[in-house]
Amino acid sequence: MSDAVTYILDKVMLTNEAIQKRVSEIAEMIRNDFAGEEVVLTGVLKGAAIFMSDLARYIGLDMDVTMDYIAVSSYGNSSASSGVVKIIKDMDTYAEGKNVILVEDIMDTGLTLSYLRELFAARNPRNFKTCVLLEKPERKKVDAVLDYKGFTIPDKFVVGYGLDYAGKWRHLKDIWCMTQK
Ligand code: IMP
Ligand code: MG
Repeated sequence: MSDAVTYILDKVMLTNEAIQKRVSEIAEMIRNDFAGEEVVLTGVLKGAAIFMSDLARYIGLDMDVTMDYIAVSSYGNSSASSGVVKIIKDMDTYAEGKNVILVEDIMDTGLTLSYLRELFAARNPRNFKTCVLLEKPERKKVDAVLDYKGFTIPDKFVVGYGLDYAGKWRHLKDIWCMTQK
């Protein structure tokens, strides 16, 4: 018998309705903070793709928005973030002088975001903000600054609304907890 652990969907942690309400509130904060300016929403692939698409649409007509993407992977042990991030695909936009808002699905240890903040600082953007849908404070290893945050969640593995387990479940409208089978 295989002793490999399998995970199955357990229950809904955040409904799509609750997510939409919060994403529209974050869009409102961004509109207030950057009124009359241009922002470059920069999504961390693939997890932030769905969140960023909704966020961009809630920002709406009032602002000058462009959308770009970055893909990263952590070096070494894939399940434990090492804090050293490899850029698989960089953004196409030249960040210097721009208002860059980095959009991420979840902050777990915070290593990925603190690494990206340093990397972007060297690019001299006009402003650099982080926008994260979920934060798991119990797992935090470094104090990465979150400028915009959706929800604080307990230390549970979650999927849906862009978040995956082994590449699956990103397409779910709600955010679900996983449990061991
Ligand atoms: P960290 O903050 O550097 O530890 O890593 C954050 C990354 O870990 C996120 O971008 C996700 O890809 C992944 N991650 C952490 N927790 C979860 C989860 O509960 N579900 C899905 N992905 C997760
Ligand atoms: Mg990710």
